[in-house]
Amino acid sequence: MCGITARVGTEDASESLVCSLENLEYRGYDSAGIAVKNGTGLKIQKREGEVSELKAAMAGSGIVGDVGIGHTRWSTHGPPTNENAHPHVDCSGRVAVVHNGIVENHAELRRDLEARGHTFRSDTDTEVVPHLVEERLDAGDDSETAFRAAIDELEGSYALAMLHEDADTVFATRTGSPLVLGIGEDANYLASDVPAFLEFTSRVVYLEDGDVAVLSADDYRITDADGFEVSRPVEAVDWAAEDAGKGEYDHYMLKEIHEQPTSLRQTIQGRLDGDDVVLSEFPAGSFSEVSRVHFVACGTSYHAGLYGESLFADWDVDAQTFLASEYAAHPPAVPEDTLVVGITQSGETADTLAALEAAADAGARTLALTNVVGSTAARECDDALFIRAGPEIGVAATKTFSSQVATLVCLGERIARDVTGSPTPDHAARLDALADLPEHVEAVLESSTAADVAARHAHESGHFFIGRGSAYAVALEAALKFKEITYEHAEGFAAGELKHGPLALVTADTPVFAICNGNNEAKLASNVREVQTRGGPVVGVCPRTSDALADAADEVLTVPATHPDLVAILANVQLQLVAYHAANDLGRPIDKPRNLAKSVTVE
Ligand code: F6R
Repeated sequence: MCGITARVGTEDASESLVCSLENLEYRGYDSAGIAVKNGTGLKIQKREGEVSELKAAMAGSGIVGDVGIGHTRWSTHGPPTNENAHPHVDCSGRVAVVHNGIVENHAELRRDLEARGHTFRSDTDTEVVPHLVEERLDAGDDSETAFRAAIDELEGSYALAMLHEDADTVFATRTGSPLVLGIGEDANYLASDVPAFLEFTSRVVYLEDGDVAVLSADDYRITDADGFEVSRPVEAVDWAAEDAGKGEYDHYMLKEIHEQPTSLRQTIQGRLDGDDVVLSEFPAGSFSEVSRVHFVACGTSYHAGLYGESLFADWDVDAQTFLASEYAAHPPAVPEDTLVVGITQSGETADTLAALEAAADAGARTLALTNVVGSTAARECDDALFIRAGPEIGVAATKTFSSQVATLVCLGERIARDVTGSPTPDHAARLDALADLPEHVEAVLESSTAADVAARHAHESGHFFIGRGSAYAVALEAALKFKEITYEHAEGFAAGELKHGPLALVTADTPVFAICNGNNEAKLASNVREVQTRGGPVVGVCPRTSDALADAADEVLTVPATHPDLVAILANVQLQLVAYHAANDLGRPIDKPRNLAKSVTVE
């Protein structure tokens, strides 16, 4: 949802800015641009399209400068054109600004600025900012005062970075959109997300809402919303630069699917202790006051919530999953003994943050279940529990889903013990199986025939996914993954619902993927027969031991037999591979599906 970055050093910034933009491209790829300062005014290069277009335009352009800002865009105001690409400048071209977020009062600010003689060159909400700064500079303010005065006029959410031709510094601020500083040896950085500068430094400072940062080559200064100088902790990020690269893989998505054994090991490391869980953040009794759990989330994270809900229900914990956007718009009754868990990989999804805010306003306790330390959700909730999956760059979430569910298994055990006073039924077998999950995922990755299945079915007219309980959550997730990267029609259904309507869509050209978690196998086998009777081909996705389903299906993708609560995670890995290979066969841009971006910071 737009990525911004900046570098201030003593050597040319342009190459490293473009590298940072490549690392941020998962946030948007409609256009990209940089502005650098080279002592003789600002130099700007920007292009519609991916960062590769900008890179090509940069070659031989002679654009160099040791202070610079950059932007990669996911369009909100105005189509993806060269004119609407950031950075945006004032009338005189002395001030350049990059922005992530939405300036909600831009129309009225623009009208007033135009009435005062300013000329706008783009359709964006962002362009009001350089013009506001320009007015203050003309009135005699220094760069920092002018920047502060300009942002005081803005409503909405924004992370902004500004370059002024008279200053050797970058000015930046955030309110409601993420922004993190990178503290390097020879240069300082800032970006919407850490992977942008991971190659250059792993020492970071997370800004708070309202902070204004001024970065120079060898120093930085932060003031809070009231203008008082503040000290924010410098933290070491334990992600390696290679974690954020593609490595030997053609796509981030494939790399991240294959990283799941490692990411799951990280997720559970130190959290399993024989037949108990250890969550250092939440000792026994942490949830004694909780009577019910609400999960709020979007997209894949919502499906992880549904998965968790189906498990929690078996463990006598009252849990319900809500689409965050709906929860924020129409909050249900949230009694004070409700724990509201925001499941969000990025920790920055605006809909989820709004739902958490609504829950907090209603007096609920909030918990962020997230991958990103220092994210807004982690900082704003009462508590945070990290899924520890490592950086996920592919727009389609994969490894974070399995880590979310594995974390929910641990969290559920803790909550169930606190709420009911006893361990969950079958806990020892489930926790043993959780310890073995990384190996089981490895086995799936080594033996999967998903590429062949995908080749047979990629071109068919519709793709349906069915399951019950946790496998229903995975049916929805598999359909989302399939549609978002193949652009083919795909839907997930509760297996029992098929005969109540969707069966009308089934033909010989609509493969149905029937996902079995080991429970209710006979019923699922009946649903398979119902599909086949209408001519629909069925791919069973099930444990090796599910003979009834394997016999009923036309072809099978098997997974190791394990605890039924965890089987659907393995089935999901098979279906991630099916989606990936189908998209590859269809020639889709897998890591950059059209119209989408990874971190959705607008409601
Ligand atoms: C789909 C996908 C999205 C995200 C959703 C929530 O592959 O990645 O549906 O799951 O935008 O994002 P987070 O988890 O960052 O809140």
